[in-house]
Amino acid sequence: MAGMDTTVIGLVNPGAMGATVGGLLVGAGHRVVWAGRDRSEATRRRADAAGLDDVSTIDVLADRAAVVLSLCPPSAAMDVADAVAAAGFDGTYVDANAVRPATARAIAERFATFVDGSVVGGPPESGDETPTRLYLSGAGADHVAALFDDDALEVVALDGPVGAASALKMGFAGWTKGTAALAVALRAMARAEGVEGEVLAEWDRSLPGMRVTERSGRAGALAAKAWRFAGELDEIAATMATHDLPDGFHHAAAEVYRSLAPLRDHPDPDVDDLLDHLLD
Ligand SMILES: NC(=O)c1ccc[n+]([C@@H]2O[C@H](COP(=O)([O-])OP(=O)(O)OC[C@H]3O[C@@H](n4cnc5c(N)ncnc54)[C@H](OP(=O)(O)O)[C@@H]3O)[C@@H](O)[C@H]2O)c1
Repeated sequence: MAGMDTTVIGLVNPGAMGATVGGLLVGAGHRVVWAGRDRSEATRRRADAAGLDDVSTIDVLADRAAVVLSLCPPSAAMDVADAVAAAGFDGTYVDANAVRPATARAIAERFATFVDGSVVGGPPESGDETPTRLYLSGAGADHVAALFDDDALEVVALDGPVGAASALKMGFAGWTKGTAALAVALRAMARAEGVEGEVLAEWDRSLPGMRVTERSGRAGALAAKAWRFAGELDEIAATMATHDLPDGFHHAAAEVYRSLAPLRDHPDPDVDDLLDHLLD
């Protein structure tokens, strides 16, 4: 941190990932501002805990910040970019959401300086054996990477254009979130056919390393995040379609997550809740 310049960074918005990344930037000596008007109490609590400054509106945030970092639901990435651009922001805009490369390129057109980004791993925690990765691409990636100074987040400036960081995320999450949706959908089918126990036993016996049974039953994580994953899977399907590759895998996965989205506010979901929603 010694010798680093202080930059004012606008963060939109302090979700589970955004607040943690914002806290790392504060720890690196920067001032991180966010726009609290109309946001939830949960977002405010996270922002306060991370030491972020509430400047109330996107207009003020756009005026004060030299860099804006967008970490929001992927389905909202374009609206957030439009709002920041409409506020006259003239600094460096970083979209680090799970969006398709074409979305990143469309957002880039709204700003004089744009850096593409994506995050792999959970909200960064110090001491994690595998640190969370923030991938960046496009001219200016090195400049944005230099804002960070914490081992909990490995920042990788890719040697590639705008779109490269987003494409990397599509390839990674297309597997992890695609197969998680497949596992839970197959378990629902097996239950409907009366062979759930037998299918789980065969998964465990034949595919122990793939942990399919465990992945088909992560009720808490799936219920809390399915609403957000649906938009991300839409982006992955669109990325596949761009290259005339089959997009049906990820459309189907998006459909699974949409079916589970109403569980978002369930206080203590279990695997029966997941399967009931899919089979309804
Ligand atoms: N969490 C992870 O483990 C993880 C891992 C890798 C990548 N990411 C990426 O990080 C990004 C953010 O994820 P997250 O985990 O921080 O999400 P999150 O915990 O669900 O938080 C989303 C934040 O965005 C705000 N928000 C909700 N709807 C919005 C909208 N329509 N427009 C603008 N802001 C909105 C929420 O504010 P209110 O609640 O106040 O509405 C909240 O502060 C996503 O692109 C995701 O793919 C997350």
